[in-house]
Amino acid sequence: MIKIGNNILEYGLFLAPMAGFSDRAMRRVCSDMGAEYSVTEMISAKAVTFGDKKTYTLANIRPDEGAVALQIFGSEPQIMGRAANILSTRAFGNGYVSPCAIDINMGCPVHKIFSNGEGSALMRDPELIYRITKAVKENTDLPVTVKHRAGIDRDHINAVECAMAAESGGASLITVHGRTRVQMYSGSVDKEIIKNVKQSVHIPVIANGDILSGRDALDMLEYTGADGIAIGRGAVGNPFIFKEIISTMRSEAFIPPTLEEKVKTALWQLKLAIEDKGERVAIPESRKQIASYLHSFRGAAAIRAKINQATEYGEIERILTDALNEETI
Ligand SMILES: Cc1cc2nc3c(=O)[nH]c(=O)nc-3n(C[C@H](O)[C@H](O)[C@H](O)COP(=O)(O)O)c2cc1C
Repeated sequence: MIKIGNNILEYGLFLAPMAGFSDRAMRRVCSDMGAEYSVTEMISAKAVTFGDKKTYTLANIRPDEGAVALQIFGSEPQIMGRAANILSTRAFGNGYVSPCAIDINMGCPVHKIFSNGEGSALMRDPELIYRITKAVKENTDLPVTVKHRAGIDRDHINAVECAMAAESGGASLITVHGRTRVQMYSGSVDKEIIKNVKQSVHIPVIANGDILSGRDALDMLEYTGADGIAIGRGAVGNPFIFKEIISTMRSEAFIPPTLEEKVKTALWQLKLAIEDKGERVAIPESRKQIASYLHSFRGAAAIRAKINQATEYGEIERILTDALNEETI
């Protein structure tokens, strides 16, 4: 059990932040399937302080998504603090609600971010991690959390030092993706480093990386002793993974989703995204994710190609319904 702010998480099940994926639609669907907590796509602290409208759209959270933390990235303590303050105190109109925490991105490996000294580049300087976390903490009443990696590369594995710096700065929870920045998203996850972080700090630690099944989740928790787990890619096209993990934790049988359920859920997610962003934006953004619901279907590549051409909800509904009919013949 984890307590973060006013939220009590029974299983410690997180949807990890994923730029381009963990939008309101995905968070809503995953919450419905058992995710207890999710984190928004990363948001530029600088853009927040400039009042950038698109950035504010990314920061909007609806009450039906469950507990959602807002993730910010940046490298300057003062700007990070100001952004945290703006995001936690602005007026929440149009049915939007306050985030339950401010999460700081210290793991993004992408060149553009890294070369600006942001994301995983912060791991080069634990003292800066301390100052950023402290600045954010001093500027919000919400809990402050941090997500980082194992280290920059194989020769610089310093997750323990970084986690301790964040804890000293006032962080309430740490998520560790057990890969280095150089590994990006491939190669194996270092569970040992997550275990070492867990043993070195007094705040909850969430283990992250390559959890694709209920069994993976239990193995990760058992090995690391972590308080919870964050699922990223394993939930893309498969939000059912949260149900699977809960069943596994309860030693209950998990009944995998039928093909009909997969199609129904894919269309529901698409509909939610369209309601939120309109067809013109939501369809191109959602294509990859919708197609991944059908990756086990015969002819998945052909279905994906058709989805890539579609521009309206009705077309995608037809493509998925036809695929389902062919699959069940
Ligand atoms: C497409 C994509 C976008 C991501 N965007 C973010 C992000 O905005 N913030 C962040 O902290 N991590 C981000 N991540 C990293 C994930 O949160 C997670 O740490 C990583 O994918 C490993 O977990 P997984 O194996 O369960 O996917 C992203 C990962 C992917 C694949």
